[in-house]
Amino acid sequence: MFQNTIQGETVYGNLLNGEWVESASGHLLEIRSPVDGSLVGKIQAMTKEEVTEAIQDTKLHGKTWAEWPIHERAEIFYRAADLLVERAEEIADILTMEVAKERKSALSEIVRSADLLRYTADMGKSMEGQAISGENFPGGSRRKMSFVRRVPLGTVLAISPFNYPVNLSVSKIAPALIGGNTVVLKPATQGAVSALHLADVLQSAGLPGGVLNTITGRGSEIGDYIVTQDGIDFINFTGSTEIGQHISSLARMTPLLLELGGKDAAIVLEDADLDFAANTIADGAFSYSGQRCTAVKRVLATDAVADQLVGKLKARVEQMKVGDPREGAMITPLIDEKAAESAQKLIEDALEKGAHLLTGNKREKNLVYPTLLDHVTKEMEVAWIEPFAPILPVIRVKSIEQAIEIANQSEYGLQSSVFTNDINKAFSIAEQLEVGTVQINNKTERGPDHFPFLGVKASGMGTQGIRYSIEAMTRPKAITVNLRDEDLS
Ligand code: NAP
Ligand code: G3P
Repeated sequence: MFQNTIQGETVYGNLLNGEWVESASGHLLEIRSPVDGSLVGKIQAMTKEEVTEAIQDTKLHGKTWAEWPIHERAEIFYRAADLLVERAEEIADILTMEVAKERKSALSEIVRSADLLRYTADMGKSMEGQAISGENFPGGSRRKMSFVRRVPLGTVLAISPFNYPVNLSVSKIAPALIGGNTVVLKPATQGAVSALHLADVLQSAGLPGGVLNTITGRGSEIGDYIVTQDGIDFINFTGSTEIGQHISSLARMTPLLLELGGKDAAIVLEDADLDFAANTIADGAFSYSGQRCTAVKRVLATDAVADQLVGKLKARVEQMKVGDPREGAMITPLIDEKAAESAQKLIEDALEKGAHLLTGNKREKNLVYPTLLDHVTKEMEVAWIEPFAPILPVIRVKSIEQAIEIANQSEYGLQSSVFTNDINKAFSIAEQLEVGTVQINNKTERGPDHFPFLGVKASGMGTQGIRYSIEAMTRPKAITVNLRDEDLS
């Protein structure tokens, strides 16, 4: 059974060959809410033998699934999207407590995931392949014709992080499955309950047994084992740069897609609409307490506008509701106390080195109040380290050139924003920024989910986004027809 509630405690199984199973080890992990420590549920700590079984089982089903007509795979996704919407309130309640995400954002994560399923189904059906004539290349001829279509890679290992346990699981699973792959999902331990609900929805929508199996257990204990298992044909990972680089070092020839950390800069020029820029940057930096890879993680403001901008940022930040995600707070407890301690250290380091505290620097256990720091310099850790917490450093710059230079000095290269009313300047700056995406007059963000989403440098490898993800997890298969004279007669 998917979930079993005994004396008020819910124990979740893992999906294996269409059945929900418990680990023979009897070892369970308690998932407690970062909000109040209450029990969200218990999940299985799978043994290495069970991990191997889960992977091998998906392998067994690979051929049959790859042969399923795409339009039938798509039908399952449409049903899953409807089911997800039907169950959105229930799953949003769990998500809210499991990762301390504001209830409204939790709900929109579920609805967004349903939309992603539908769009992936449509996209899968529209990927028709190509016929390429030999005559286009010098010396070639019309008698040679290559028929190219995309075929699956095999079994995809999807590893998702805590912050979007549903959306960042479905954004891997759906493109992989529509492309004809089977999937093994290893969700973040804190986030696993929400991700298992997604797996349950997919199964209830008619996904055949063994096409999607789930693995739960601590990454620190079984992670290395999973990624080095025979039978994994592709690893699609979202998480920290540290773990992503570690996986990459173990992966040998297994192809990888990595979505990692970021230090997205918002560059504000003199001619920007400062009210708009301040509100947009503040929302981008502080929503979900800054626990988004795409959160604005530093502001580079030219001297001419810095005073005005920080005044407006401060006013906006001081209005933010802090506290319980069930009551609409934007700033909610961080995922654990360790995250709050790291955030505190970054703030202290900056203040010791001369940063000006505009608001914040207050903490109650894992609840960190939104903290705005001005006059941050390159010597401070907060100028370079990804906090994954509600901290926004403002670095004042003398010129656009200096802003670009500091933006590019980061080891990360996920996204950047440019706020200006001069579109030519915006384009010129955008061309020079070493990132996957530049947002002109907007906060940095991943969505909409069909856009290409990628990081350069330590922010990742490969490109997500519905069509891009399908392409990443399939390969072209070319069959070339060579007509002979007698074939033409
Ligand atoms: P994390 O600690 O790196 O964990 C990510 C996933 O990796 C979890 O499922 C984790 O499992 C698993 N894992 C841990 N050790 C492993 C190992 N040795 N082998 C295989 N898997 C292992 O990241 P997080 O704290 O969940 O997420 C926050 C980070 O993700 C931030 O750095 C953020 O920037 C990044 N992120 C990036 C994007 C993007 O699109 N670029 C999006 C969202 C988040 P356990 O939970 O069991 O440890
Ligand atoms: O941090 C992960 C990411 O998926 C967030 O999405 O669209 O809110 O930037 P978005």
